[in-house]
Amino acid sequence: MPAETNATTATTASPAHTLRIELGDRSYPIRIGSGLLDDPATWAGGPAASQALIISNTTVAPFYAARLERAISAHHETVHVLALPDGEEHKTWQTLNLIFDALLQKACDRKTILYALGGGVVGDMAGFAAASYMRGVPFVQVPTTLLAQVDSSVGGKTAINHPLGKNMIGAFYQPRLVVCDLETLSTLPAREFSAGLAEVIKYGPIADMEFLAWIESNIEGLMARDPALLAHAVRRSCEIKAWVVTHDERESGLRAILNFGHTFGHAIEAGLGYGQWLHGEAVGCGMVMALDLSRRLGLVDEAFVRRVRVLLERARLPVVGPPLGTGRYLELMQVDKKAEAGRIKFVVVNKPGSAVVRTAPEATVCEVIEHCCGAA
Ligand code: NAD
Ligand code: GLY
Repeated sequence: MPAETNATTATTASPAHTLRIELGDRSYPIRIGSGLLDDPATWAGGPAASQALIISNTTVAPFYAARLERAISAHHETVHVLALPDGEEHKTWQTLNLIFDALLQKACDRKTILYALGGGVVGDMAGFAAASYMRGVPFVQVPTTLLAQVDSSVGGKTAINHPLGKNMIGAFYQPRLVVCDLETLSTLPAREFSAGLAEVIKYGPIADMEFLAWIESNIEGLMARDPALLAHAVRRSCEIKAWVVTHDERESGLRAILNFGHTFGHAIEAGLGYGQWLHGEAVGCGMVMALDLSRRLGLVDEAFVRRVRVLLERARLPVVGPPLGTGRYLELMQVDKKAEAGRIKFVVVNKPGSAVVRTAPEATVCEVIEHCCGAA
């Protein structure tokens, strides 16, 4: 894992910072800072094309689409805007098709650039559209949720949901540029902000105990959206994610650790119906369950499980799973992408700051569900 860059405790905004994902001819910069959306320097040297389509949703577009349109219009003759319906329940084939409808109706050619302006839902769908329209057009991620800035906009996973499983249809397809304007987080509802913190916290137990301790020391400031603290949280999260993706772009092994909490979390999301619990909320609770499993497998102690659970609670995240019933949890986890030949695999913490993927005895998994979830 790369060493931590200057951790921050001050409360002034940091200058813009650029990281790079090194993937040969698919390498790209991640720009992190405040006010990047309107700064011409952000877009200088970006991919050029006569047409661009900003893909956003009905919530985010009114805040930021016109500003992005103005900022990028120096680089494109025509900029179109498409506002999709908002919500995880719209991460479907039907909504994806609205993007293809718009691209074809506007006669967009194979050089057209797609800009994903929004959270992870918009980013995942716009990325999948970019991967498949005319067999691939370039795209830029402009994430506007904390979750998207620290996770989903980086690394090239794109997908839509299927009624039988989350993110089951998709492609690995890297963006050309990621622009994290921290100012856009000022309009994010508190519940969404907490959901994003779950993915920030995730990097601690699996990769960086110093970062976990830093989050613990600064959780109140982060919750208050202190600009300097946010800048450090986004930057350190992206550094860790970039390191993992650079070493295992297509998840043949290492990258799966980024799914810590996701096996249980996806079951919660699908079991309740997409959109009931936010993705980050489900992942946060799923991390408690994955840590309880790690403890039952003798890998970490109860004090460590409690430490992470308390931090999640301080970030106002749910830590008790919904009462879906043990059988239903097991059934839902069978369709996890990590499952092989019907055997469910889990990301467990093998020691604080390090994670591995492994199977677990079904009886132990049942104990976790019974211990960590409400009664059915
Ligand atoms: P989201 O995209 O649904 O956004 C959350 C809500 O906030 C939405 O209502 C959205 O309209 C609103 N919003 C977004 N930005 C806003 C802003 N600046 N101001 C006000 N409102 C704003 O949810 P999310 O948490 O960003 O992303 C979750 C999705 O990301 C899930 O579908 C998940 O599967 C996916 N994901 C993908 C990856 C990946 O690697 N591709 C990683 C993690 C999560
Ligand atoms: N969010 C998990 C990954 O990108 O691999």
